[in-house]
Amino acid sequence: MCGIVAYIGQKNACPILINGLKRLEYRGYDSAGIALFDSEQNLNVYKTKGKVSDLENFIKDKNTEGKIGIAHTRWATHGEPNDVNAHPHYSQSKDIALIHNGIIENYAPLRKELEKRGFTFQSHTDTEVLVNLIEDIQQNEKVDLFEAVRIALNQVVGAYAIAIISKKEPYTLIVARKGSPLVIGIGKEGDYYIASDATPIIEHTRKVVYLDEEEIALVQRNTDICIKTIKNEEKTPYVHELEMNLQELEKGGFNHFMLKEIYEQASSIRDSMRGRLHPETDTISLGGISDYEQKILRADRIIIVGCGTSWHAGLVGEYLLEELARIHVEVEYASEFRYRNPIISERDVVIAISQSGETADTLAAIRLAKEKGATILGICNVVGSSIARETHAGVYTHAGPEIGVASTKAFTAQVTVLTLLALRLAQLKASITKSRFKELAIELESIPEKVKQLLKNDEQIIKIAERFKDTRNAIYLGRGINFPIALEGALKLKEISYIHAEGYPAAEMKHGPIALIDEEMPVVVVATSQRIYEKVISNIQEIKSRKGKVIAIVTEGNQQIKDIVDYIIEIPCTEELFVPLLATIPLQKMSYHIAVMRGCNVDQPRNLAKSVTVE
Ligand code: M6R
Repeated sequence: MCGIVAYIGQKNACPILINGLKRLEYRGYDSAGIALFDSEQNLNVYKTKGKVSDLENFIKDKNTEGKIGIAHTRWATHGEPNDVNAHPHYSQSKDIALIHNGIIENYAPLRKELEKRGFTFQSHTDTEVLVNLIEDIQQNEKVDLFEAVRIALNQVVGAYAIAIISKKEPYTLIVARKGSPLVIGIGKEGDYYIASDATPIIEHTRKVVYLDEEEIALVQRNTDICIKTIKNEEKTPYVHELEMNLQELEKGGFNHFMLKEIYEQASSIRDSMRGRLHPETDTISLGGISDYEQKILRADRIIIVGCGTSWHAGLVGEYLLEELARIHVEVEYASEFRYRNPIISERDVVIAISQSGETADTLAAIRLAKEKGATILGICNVVGSSIARETHAGVYTHAGPEIGVASTKAFTAQVTVLTLLALRLAQLKASITKSRFKELAIELESIPEKVKQLLKNDEQIIKIAERFKDTRNAIYLGRGINFPIALEGALKLKEISYIHAEGYPAAEMKHGPIALIDEEMPVVVVATSQRIYEKVISNIQEIKSRKGKVIAIVTEGNQQIKDIVDYIIEIPCTEELFVPLLATIPLQKMSYHIAVMRGCNVDQPRNLAKSVTVE
């Protein structure tokens, strides 16, 4: 959460920084700010509550010249979202300006100590404490900015990605990270672009250096980057080539990123399978983890960790891996797992699922499991992200950049990768027959085409959205592999339309939630043809006899259910195990249309951020 951008070079920094903030706005949008050196070496800070567009308006008549600058878009952690708490923060003397993504956990004792030493604070943020700590160290120890930052970071407990400029060293930019991501783009003309992720950098350069944990970089124009750890060890920067494509970061004619990303799913699912699934030769190759296949097969169990939508993908994965590969799987919320002193051994394999690859709880969970000797694998979307780098091996989902805060195509790509993994392990273990493997592989290959077909059907979904847009509550039900789809459907609705929604296993209704059913309550049921279809129908009857309004996701051509429920949404026929890849799409669309009809900010829902880098 929070996006940081910085630039040092020969160009006018302000437009570069503002465009960069727009690309990173999905990381937080409570307030935004910018700090620039003008030609007389004045250090100007402009910041305001609200979005990057508010900042743009705010600086219209200000002096925004300068070739070095830092900028920030905030998701508030300490202190309410207002102008004062917005970043950048000046040091007390106003000589230094700093932007920060993360949390300084020991900011309270540090602040007290600094207050004793005569510092006063304007804001309630942990960040202002850090910038003053750096200033205090510089004043007392007579060291340069880099060394002051290094000393300060040794006193700090918590997470940070920071960028700092100082009046005393106006040709220098210092950046550092621990726990929060930071990328340095190497420009073609001796200039440097710094950001929380590569999306603001790609339009300027493809050459990047990912800063590692506890590393600080000294960045100066026309000079090689100098990197040290906070323990003062020198590091050699490793230059990566970005594979991202600029068009992927634009809306491409859609009104919202979320809608574009929903519609991209035929190709993103295909991309997650590309070069991996070969039904014609009965092979599945997951290059990233091929060296670990035997280890997985010998494992006592697989533990899947993730948060939010990624956790839901993990639940689908549990079903697939147990059903096909007959391997014991446990799925854990990363945030609970890490604080529970879990029993883990070298015989366990932990799979971390994360779109961003930066989720703080997931990262902490894998670090804990690694310490205890488990093998750690990752399923991430963002190439080069922290989780991708900290796992022993992994499989990228290749869904392309996901900008909408609500996860859509990343989810179906995660489920696709888990399906490939389950099938590959099943083949190695011979837990399914060769002919069954082939049947499933052929069907999986046909999924992108079925998604394409499914995406054409909008009319019915819009009609349903119209009917239920003003509801205050909704219930989502599913059974077996579709129970996580009910959870995911409910999460999509609540996060973008602010309607209270809950997902339940359909049979759990009668153990409590059924008390909520009345003639106003919409109940979305995944009722596709499956082993326990008849049981789901009984669950629907229970709701109907209490006058609930049932919207059923059904297999194309199902005539029987039409007479029982209020609305149906058809999806193409597929293997029961692959229904999640299809059934989730109309639920995403329904949430999208309801949110738009309610006038909600679909891509940037209130209080949320795309990448949750705080605990
Ligand atoms: O980047 P991650 O997949 O680790 O993110 C996990 C959750 O924060 C994320 O899935 C969140 O729940 C989404 N907003 C859901 O749409």
